Amino acid sequence: MSAPQMVDQPLEGHFETVVAAEQRIEPRDWMPDAYRATLVRQIAQHAHSEIIGMQPEGNWLTRAPSLRRKAILLAKAQDEAGHGLYLYAAAETLGVDRAELTDKLISGRQKYSSIFNYPTLTFADVGVIGWLVDGAAICNQVPLCRCSYGPYARAMVRICKEESFHQRQGYELLMTLMRGTDTQRRMVQDAVDRWWWPSLMMFGPPDDDSPNTAQSMAWRIKRHTNDELRQRFVDMTVPQAQHLGVTLPDPALSWNEERGSWDFGEPDWSELKQVIKGQGPCNTQRVERRRAAHEDGAWVREAAVAYAAKRRAEAGAGGAGDHRDEDEGAGR
Ligand code: 3HC
Repeated sequence: MSAPQMVDQPLEGHFETVVAAEQRIEPRDWMPDAYRATLVRQIAQHAHSEIIGMQPEGNWLTRAPSLRRKAILLAKAQDEAGHGLYLYAAAETLGVDRAELTDKLISGRQKYSSIFNYPTLTFADVGVIGWLVDGAAICNQVPLCRCSYGPYARAMVRICKEESFHQRQGYELLMTLMRGTDTQRRMVQDAVDRWWWPSLMMFGPPDDDSPNTAQSMAWRIKRHTNDELRQRFVDMTVPQAQHLGVTLPDPALSWNEERGSWDFGEPDWSELKQVIKGQGPCNTQRVERRRAAHEDGAWVREAAVAYAAKRRAEAGAGGAGDHRDEDEGAGR
């Protein structure tokens, strides 16, 4: 166990003032140990989700129905990889190492989003993931652009712009399928039926069962509670479902005039707990796949380290101008 943090009053005061004034805490600023640990936990979980999140849709890359759909899907998966990298870089500003975070993911010591533990059974799932899962991600992540920790907030700005493209490509794909045959419309409805509840669970447990929310909100890491964001998502999505012509699989869904919001049913929280514990339909497969990809990529990491060492040695031995030809050669 690490020694308790010695609290320097002026530093702590400065931290509190910066957070209260909606300014940013930066990597070299003093911060409470627990604030740092909370950020590492959340940012690492978020980064892992982006990386694992490539798998369900990656399943359809070789089977996309046209070149256009394949190019869109490929671009989306590459965006997710980029998001993972920005987020690992943000986590590293807090003093953790990306290799250590990856190791924690593949050994089951760190979490990733529950949503990526469900299978993608048809190509309509690609559209529904874009519409619902990326739609939920946008609801959850736009407020994180105002998070109190600078590197996380800045990473989220670009991520959210790209998520918005992901959401639109999903909706456009579904609109196309809905204009198609009866079989295609049934495919969309089936995918909506399977992804609706898991999408609501993405926002986390209900507020009265969310141990981290109160402190994370006080530190302005989270800007809204899990239930607030879930409600915002439902209110945003119901009219989109109506426009699309699909039924959301919730008999309790009804407009509440007084609240100016949609009432909706209770997700199956025991299912969320099971999935978070690693017992969802695809947990084992997802982590195994990530582990295999990490192991298969060992030679790339070794080559990058060897190349960096060679460049350092050359820089020590001669002038910078000597490197140009060799650098270009290495890139070929
Ligand atoms: N899946 C897996 N674990 C979850 C979860 C979910 N959907 N929801 C909550 N949890 C975990 C929490 O991590 C926490 O675990 P821990 O304390 O053991 O680490 C526990 O359940 C209790 O939940 P809390 O509500 O107290 O936890 P948080 O305050 O951290 O809130 C959160 C959870 C809302 C997911 C928050 O961490 C968050 O906003 N994270 C950033 C966004 C993120 O990670 N999104 C994941 C999806 S990324 C994505 O969608 C990619 C896109 O391309 C589609």
